[in-house]
Amino acid sequence: MSAQIIEGKKISDLIREEIKRDAEALKEKGVVPGLAVVLVGEDPASKVYVGSKEKACQQLGFYSEVHRLAEDTSESDLLALIDKLNNQASINGILVQLPLPKHINEKAVIDAIDVNKDVDGFHPESVGNLVIGDDSLLPCTPAGVIELIKRSSGDISGKHAVVIGRSNIVGKPVAMLLLRENATVTICHSRTANMEEIAKQADILVVAIGKAKAIGRKFVKPGAVVIDVGINRLPDGKLAGDVDYEDCLETAGFITPVPGGVGPMTITMLMSNTITAAKRANKIEE
Ligand code: GUN
Repeated sequence: MSAQIIEGKKISDLIREEIKRDAEALKEKGVVPGLAVVLVGEDPASKVYVGSKEKACQQLGFYSEVHRLAEDTSESDLLALIDKLNNQASINGILVQLPLPKHINEKAVIDAIDVNKDVDGFHPESVGNLVIGDDSLLPCTPAGVIELIKRSSGDISGKHAVVIGRSNIVGKPVAMLLLRENATVTICHSRTANMEEIAKQADILVVAIGKAKAIGRKFVKPGAVVIDVGINRLPDGKLAGDVDYEDCLETAGFITPVPGGVGPMTITMLMSNTITAAKRANKIEE
């Protein structure tokens, strides 16, 4: 038997339809969700991501501002812009595209964003709220992973979820979200002994390590849900995930492709966070 493919693009398009309807309903109440994206410098991948975010805003009828700043912008000028956006009523969400140039302290910049506008979910207070289980804006890629699991294989409660990778932007928050969904969660990382043995116990296996095709079928329990967060450029120019997709196809029950799995969900969840922030700012029921 072959795994069911989790079609991230299709699921993402469905959610965007829901967001669009939500945005139209908000407009009738006089509220237009607003997102500000800040890009410093000329990183080619960042430029593409920022362009996609701007396009998503246009498609969904959001107000959008993109601030493209020069590579040599000072930290204090960037902090001044964030302060302005924090106080601007038409802006509900602020995203500073990472990485920032080396002379800027990333942490100082993230800390400066108003937590109510932290649509990336990277502010320490948002992270703390996520751990405690209080309301906060959820980091986009981890939230997208949860949506993909819920909308494909279904219930997470009681399942054994194994997360491979412990980064602040994916591994740790995804583990916390799975715990919140009542999974039993194990986190594996580069120092884990017996990783294969542990991964093989997983009903849900989430992989985010940044190493092309590192996880093959010997890590996968037959029928498991396999979510691949990796996106790696191969020497031949093609993209590959952290999971060896072809190798796992017969063993997994559900699997995300790369590209077209988790990737399309990230910007969609950013848009969803912006709607949530707009509702909270205007005291509209979610
Ligand atoms: N750079 C790559 N991914 C992300 C992301 O999710 N948010 C931000 N702010 N920068 C990124």
